Parts: sequence; C-alpha cells; structure tokens
Amino acid sequence: MRKITIAIDGYSSTGKSTVAKQLADYLGYVYVDSGAMYRAVTLFAMQNDIISKNHFNTKKLIESLDSINLKFKKEAVWNKAHIFLNEKDVEHEIRSLKVSEFVSPIASIREVRVKLVAQQQQMGLEKGVVMDGRDIGTVVFPKAELKIFMNASAKERAQRRYKELLERGEKIDYNDVLKNIQERDHIDTTRKDSPLLKAEDAIKIDNSEMNLEDQFHTVLQLAKDRIAGRI
Ligand code: DC
Repeated sequence: MRKITIAIDGYSSTGKSTVAKQLADYLGYVYVDSGAMYRAVTLFAMQNDIISKNHFNTKKLIESLDSINLKFKKEAVWNKAHIFLNEKDVEHEIRSLKVSEFVSPIASIREVRVKLVAQQQQMGLEKGVVMDGRDIGTVVFPKAELKIFMNASAKERAQRRYKELLERGEKIDYNDVLKNIQERDHIDTTRKDSPLLKAEDAIKIDNSEMNLEDQFHTVLQLAKDRIAGRI
C-alpha cells in the first residue's frame, strides 16, 4: 500500500497529538510531535538563563542553537517516543505550564524555526509519517497528501488542558490555563514567521463536541481515502 504524509495542524490543546498518535499507530506510521521540539528548545533556554519572566536573550539563544541536540527515542514500554534534549529524556519536563508560558516567544524566533523545520523535513523523507504542529501543512510538508486543521473553543481546550495538568500533579488555577491558551493563540497566529494558519487545502475539524472515538474515525476515513487515492 502506498505511504502518504499526514499533516495535522491547529490551535493548542485541540487534541492534535492524540489523534495523530492514534492514526500513526493504526497505519504503522511514524508519529512526530513537532511541538515537543519547540518545548525542548524552550526548556534549554530556561535552564541556560536565556529566558525568564523578565528577560529574553535572543542573541544567546541563536548562538546556542548548535549546542542543542534533539532526538526522539522509543522503548517498548513507552506508549510513544520520548524527546531527548542533549541525550536527556525531557518528555515529562517539557509539558509543564512553565514551559508552556515561554514556548511561544521561543517558537517565534526565525533561526529556531529554520533549525527545527529542517530536522522535521528530514524525518518525513520516507513518507509514512503523521506530524502535528502549527505549520506542518503550510511550511514543513506543503505537499502532504492529507492536511487536517483542528480547532475547538478556547474554553473547551482550557478545560482539557487543566484536567491533564491536574492529573500530572501540578497545582494550577483554571483561569491561568485559559489565559495561557489565549496568549499562545494570539502569539502563534500573529507571529511574523510561519504563523498558525490553515493551509488552503487542509480539512477543518472542530472537535468541541466530538468524542475521541468520533474524531479518530473521521480522520482515519480521510486517511484511508487518500491512501487509496479516492479523494
Ligand atoms: O503543540 P504544543 O502545544 O506542544 O506546541 C507548543 C508550542 O510550540 C506552541 O504554542 C507553538 C509552538 N509550535 C510551533 O510554533 N510550530 C509547530 N510546528 C509546533 C509547535
């Protein structure tokens, strides 16, 4: 069966990674969480005095890019590949609200995007890949055979994210989560370089009212049709 490239873009916490992972597992494709790469660079910046609440040293970030090594590795006991920052597994650490607070400014730096996009394109060379992010259908794989653009209301997304963070044991306030989602939406959609944008040929899915199963079956049907060349 022919292999295709599947790009899933959309707003924060729309469940892109859940459906992308389900789809990759079902089709036997590689799943790449491109947001994890921006989060890992953000963690590096936080650990190296590049970004904090009151300062952001973009020059130091750009100069440090060559010393940031990102890799995805998978072990049988893990449900998905983990991201490694300079050989250290940071999969858990990068999901904190602190990292979420700084990730959008980091992701708006052109040099960061150039480095990560090149690595993402490399990972998709053989097709058979499902990648989720913000610019996958527009910049990383503009020729992807299937492009999905996901959205849900900000309140619904904040509710989902809040639940996730509580389950991780973070002590947080729902309003802070909602504020973070709204701020990230704003920065992600208005940044100069590769703003979050629906590709013209992407299929829009609003999952505010959908459960995970409905969402998966909708996307899977689209993928099967594309693989078979029906649409
Ligand atoms: O998908 P996520 O919430 O883990 O992504 C974290 C941030 O990374 C998001 O606020 C914007 C940025 N990002 C990006 O700019 N481009 C991508 N392809 C993926 C994520």
